[in-house]
Amino acid sequence: MRVFSGIQPTGAIHIGNYLGAIKHWVELQKKAECVFVIVDLHAITIPYQPEELKKNIFDTAIAYLAAGIDPEKSILFVQSQIKEHTELCWLLGTVCPVGDLLRMTQYKEKSKQFKRMINAGLLNYPILQTADILLYQTDIVPVGKDQLQHVELARTIARKFNQRFGKVFVEPKSQIPKIGAKIMALNNPKKKMSKTLGPKSYISLFDEPDEIKKKVMTAVTDPGKQIKYDPQKKPGISNLLTIYSLFSGKSIKKLEKDFKGRGYEDFKRSLAKVLINSLEPFRRKRKELLAREVYVEEILNQGTKRAKILAASTMIGVRKKMGLV
Ligand code: TYM
Repeated sequence: MRVFSGIQPTGAIHIGNYLGAIKHWVELQKKAECVFVIVDLHAITIPYQPEELKKNIFDTAIAYLAAGIDPEKSILFVQSQIKEHTELCWLLGTVCPVGDLLRMTQYKEKSKQFKRMINAGLLNYPILQTADILLYQTDIVPVGKDQLQHVELARTIARKFNQRFGKVFVEPKSQIPKIGAKIMALNNPKKKMSKTLGPKSYISLFDEPDEIKKKVMTAVTDPGKQIKYDPQKKPGISNLLTIYSLFSGKSIKKLEKDFKGRGYEDFKRSLAKVLINSLEPFRRKRKELLAREVYVEEILNQGTKRAKILAASTMIGVRKKMGLV
C-alpha cells in the first residue's frame, strides 16, 4: 500500500495540520510505504516573499521530522526538486475540464481572499495536487476534511485518463480522521484553523508554553458556562473539547463528566497544561534539528533521489500512452 500526502510551506505548522494529517502519517508509516512532500509549488500561488519561502520550506521539513516522520521509513522531499510534478500537471490539464476547477471550494475562498492576485496557478492548483498524488501510484491520501474535494478530483482525473489512454494510474482514496478532520480557529470557531487566519487562530506545534497558555485562555467560547459538546450551539467549547480529547486520549464524554460544574476558565487552564506537555517533545526535537541543518538537507536530498525513481517510472508510462515519444 502506498500512502502520499503533503503540506504547503506557508508558515507555522499548527495543531490542525497535526490532528488532521501528520498524526495519522506517523501511524501509517509503520505499515505502509509512505511519501510525504513539502509542496512549495502550491505555496507560490498566493503572494509570497522568496526569502521567506526558502525559510518556510526548511521549517516545514523540521516540523515533519519533529512531529515523528521517520526518514528511515518514509520518503520526504520538496516538490519543486522533481520536475515530473510540473510536467504531469501540464499533461493532466488537458484532461481536466475548467468547470471542475472553478467549482473547487479552496479556489473560491482563495480568490476572494487574494482578489488582486487571482493567477492561473491558483485555478490549476488542484491539477498539480493530482499530479503529486498520481505520480506515486498512491492508494491512500491521508488529509483533513478541507482536502477531500481535491482528492476526489484526483480520483476523477485518474479514471478519465485511464479510460481515454489506457491504465496508467491508481485511483487514490482519501483517508479522513473520524475526529479532528476539521479543527476550528481559536479566535473564530466558525472558521477552520488556518495559517492564513493569523497566529491568533492557531497553536503552532512549536509555540512556547506562555504563548500556548495565552492563546487557550483567550480562545473564543460560547454563552453559558457548561462544558458540553454541541458543535451547533457551542462551537467554541466543542472545538476545545475535541482538541483536549485528541491530545489527552480521554473521550469527550469523559471530559464532559470530569468538568461538570466547573467553569470555562478551569477547563481552559487544564487544556493549556495538556497542550504544553503534549507539544514539549516537538519543541525539544525541533531545537535539536535546528542545530543540524546539514543532516536535514541530507534527508531531503535522499528523499528526492528515492522519489525521483518512482516519479520517472510513472512518467514513462504516461508519455507512451499519450503518444509523446
Ligand atoms: P495544507 O497545507 O493547507 O494543509 C496540510 C494538511 O493539514 C490539514 N489541515 C487541517 N486538518 C484539520 N483541521 C484543520 N484546521 C486543518 N487545516 C489543515 C489539511 O487537510 C492537509 O491534510 N492542497 C494541500 C497540500 C497538497 C497535498 C497534495 C495534500 C498538495 N499536494 C497531495 C495531499 C496530497 C493543502 O493545501 O494542505
